[in-house]
Amino acid sequence: MLISVSNKKFAVPVKRVYNIGHMKAERYIEYDPFAWLYNKHWGYTFTPIAMAAIEKLVIPNLSPEAEVLDLCCGTGQMTGMLQQRGYRVTGIDGSEKMLSYARENAPGVIFKVDDARFFMTETHFDAVVCVFDSLNHIMSIEDLGEVFKSVYRALKAGGVFVFDMNLEAGYKERWNGIYGIIEDDHVCIIRNSYDAEYRTGRFEATLFRMEQGWQRNDFTLTQRSYPEWEIINSLSEAGFSANEAYEFSLEQGLSELAPGSQRGFFRCIKQTEMG
Ligand SMILES: C[S@@+](CC[C@H](N)C(=O)[O-])C[C@H]1O[C@@H](n2cnc3c(N)ncnc32)[C@H](O)[C@@H]1O
Repeated sequence: MLISVSNKKFAVPVKRVYNIGHMKAERYIEYDPFAWLYNKHWGYTFTPIAMAAIEKLVIPNLSPEAEVLDLCCGTGQMTGMLQQRGYRVTGIDGSEKMLSYARENAPGVIFKVDDARFFMTETHFDAVVCVFDSLNHIMSIEDLGEVFKSVYRALKAGGVFVFDMNLEAGYKERWNGIYGIIEDDHVCIIRNSYDAEYRTGRFEATLFRMEQGWQRNDFTLTQRSYPEWEIINSLSEAGFSANEAYEFSLEQGLSELAPGSQRGFFRCIKQTEMG
């Protein structure tokens, strides 16, 4: 057989210590080898769905010149759409390579390399959004709690935080096969798998790209699924209230999460002191 799905247990993502001014911290860099391919094939795929969900869950809370943070903004396609609507937008991502495309896709936006678990900002935001499974890359509930605390710190009182996550039913349905992309100047094979015992998904890619001859690059991304109750508990512990979870599709709009929901959109508020 040409390709076999590895059954090795997941590796904890590589973390590098880097200096982000206020502290030495670890930064998430796994997307660096994926950035070129992501920008070409993934960057725009989820944006219409994410934007339509944000339309319902975030936009009604925002004034025309609101400050918005796109956390884990990747190659910046959605960041650019928020900017075009007139919001003052900042993008944060751990991968410098992803941000190099974001700067081309959304010129004028402030982009910063930082880690979702540890970032600190001088600006306080009216809204923080984080879409397309980004927080599934956070591999422990403790680290997910750190993300929620960082977001809480970064929001103004009354600010709204919306993010989506792949849920276990989604991994079982979709993370179980091999597919490929074949174009004139690149070929990529992707193996997706999900280990229910460890609640861990693996995305293993082999990319051949024509750059002064064919160059091969192998990389693996890992994700973790969390049950809805664990996400909501962790949000509450970070200080968020009015935490809500939805399923969303372009056809059906928002509906309640059900046991078979493959993806959840979570919306929470940093309550003002007045409640
Ligand atoms: C699936 S991509 C989504 C990108 C973008 N939000 C979009 O809609 O296309 C996930 C992104 O999250 C970033 N990411 C994952 N974990 C991170 C962390 N701990 N800190 C900062 N960025 C992180 C990755 O570098 C990657 O750009």
